[in-house]
Amino acid sequence: MSRHLVRTAAAVGLALLAGMASAGEPLPDGNPDRGKRLFLQCVACHELKPGGILKVGPHLAGLFGRQAGSVPALVVSPALKASGIVWNADLLDQWLAKPTALIPGIIMVIPGIEKPQDRADLIAYMKRETGPATKAP
Ligand code: HEC
Repeated sequence: MSRHLVRTAAAVGLALLAGMASAGEPLPDGNPDRGKRLFLQCVACHELKPGGILKVGPHLAGLFGRQAGSVPALVVSPALKASGIVWNADLLDQWLAKPTALIPGIIMVIPGIEKPQDRADLIAYMKRETGPATKAP
């Protein structure tokens, strides 16, 4: 292959990766250790285990396969409870990209995690820390 062709192939590969990157598409492999650092943005409002102090948002233990809005928190909206969502990695990816786009009327006010790799890393960390991924795809 000529140098030019190699470069073109690389560019096409990158374009494909970028195309795969939008929410709802297959997740890239997540790195839970990197996700742990990213989760620092969440700890103010979320515990990973039950039985800790009641925070603004629900604890995330057993999150995968759990009905949305089904555990106590200082703030849980009727919209979240009524969503009928059972959490899995794909839905979490959409939630983290833009919470209000997945479920209008919810009241988790974060800007959304733009980078697919960041979302994948966060999800890998939550999978590791919140129990078996019973309903993960
Ligand atoms: C400022 C506080 C706050 C921050 C920061 C925050 N959340 Fe939340 N989170 C909430 C609230 C409040 C809810 C409940 C929303 C509702 O009921 O409408 C929620 C709900 C959730 C839920 C659904 C839980 C369930 O039981 O259905 C998940 C999952 C979640 N947050 C993940 C995260 C992750 C991951 C981060 C970090 C990237 C994060 N949150 C950052 C406040 C926060």
